[in-house]
Amino acid sequence: MSATEALPLHSGRRAWLAVLAHAPRADLEAALAHAFEGAALPAFEWLRAPEIGLAMVRGRIGGTGDPFNLGEATVTRATLRLTGVTKQFGGRNGCAGVTFDLYPGEVLCIVGESDSGKTTLSNTLALRTEADSGALGYTNANGETIDLFSLGEPRRRLLMRTEWGFVQQNSRDGLRLGVSAGANIGEPLMAVGARHYGQIRGTAAKWMARVELDPARIDELPAAFSGGMQQRLQIARNLVTGPRLVFMDEPTASLDVSVQARLLDLLRTLAATLHLSVLIVTHDIGVARLLAHRLMVMQGGKVVEAGLTDQVLDDPQHPYTQTLVSSVLPV
Ligand SMILES: Nc1ncnc2c1ncn2[C@@H]1O[C@H](COP(=O)(O)OP(=O)(O)O)[C@@H](O)[C@H]1O
Ligand SMILES: [Mg+2]
Repeated sequence: MSATEALPLHSGRRAWLAVLAHAPRADLEAALAHAFEGAALPAFEWLRAPEIGLAMVRGRIGGTGDPFNLGEATVTRATLRLTGVTKQFGGRNGCAGVTFDLYPGEVLCIVGESDSGKTTLSNTLALRTEADSGALGYTNANGETIDLFSLGEPRRRLLMRTEWGFVQQNSRDGLRLGVSAGANIGEPLMAVGARHYGQIRGTAAKWMARVELDPARIDELPAAFSGGMQQRLQIARNLVTGPRLVFMDEPTASLDVSVQARLLDLLRTLAATLHLSVLIVTHDIGVARLLAHRLMVMQGGKVVEAGLTDQVLDDPQHPYTQTLVSSVLPV
């Protein structure tokens, strides 16, 4: 397996050459220097997330867009690896033939208009909906790769409790409304074995502060908080157990625009500091632009375009992506 995936830009993609690579920065720089030996190295810019080894080169290489080999570098193993994941509803595409890898520390956004299959895909990957076909591999905290579609129910549940989070669009679906904010954060800890009341309460208070909620309100019910605060509470409930992979379906869609920016900022900080792999589903290109290292554009259940966020948004190739992007351009 090659550590890096050189995404040669199809000839149509003017003056861009993207390198989609998941390897330590030093390895990539060495590989690039080697690949361009003798030729002028084009301006090499780390447009996205050097800390997770996601790189992009700007400039035309020989004018052909030929693939170039980055050579062998240290392999970063994908957290999630999908191959041909398909789910249909009565012959209609929920999602069809979806293939991609999600890497440690990477934030990947799935964008597309309503009914494009985003939720179906995310639910299928999170094992909340059963796929019709395809394969789904997950590399767990111990470095073992697990075939998720054939995983038995008990191990599935364990994984969800210990290594995964799922943030719902509507915070009320992801919270327990009958118990306090503190209990909402403390429950997942108890589910993974925490027993010491004082410690659980202390951790809950710390997480409230971390998501910018006043820890003094620890005993209040979710209903006492605003929509934006409830969403932050749901995020704390999901992250308190230290997951490695978090699914988010339209995390800001139910919030006022004024509140969205703050939540997006918080999500970005948390994903980076906790080195989370995050799969976000959104119809909002603005959300994707702000959060995602990488984008996948879906239409009618299929991925029609994928790539680094800047690359896709600044130079969309597929007509559907062009429409999506142009419809949100500031006028
Ligand atoms: N439970 C279901 N039963 C039947 N059809 C469904 C179901 N869930 C989704 N679909 C269909 O699958 C397609 C994709 O839906 P969805 O994944 O919800 O899209 P999105 O999240 O992008 O709005 C739509 O045509 C939708 O009607
Ligand atoms: Mg949806």
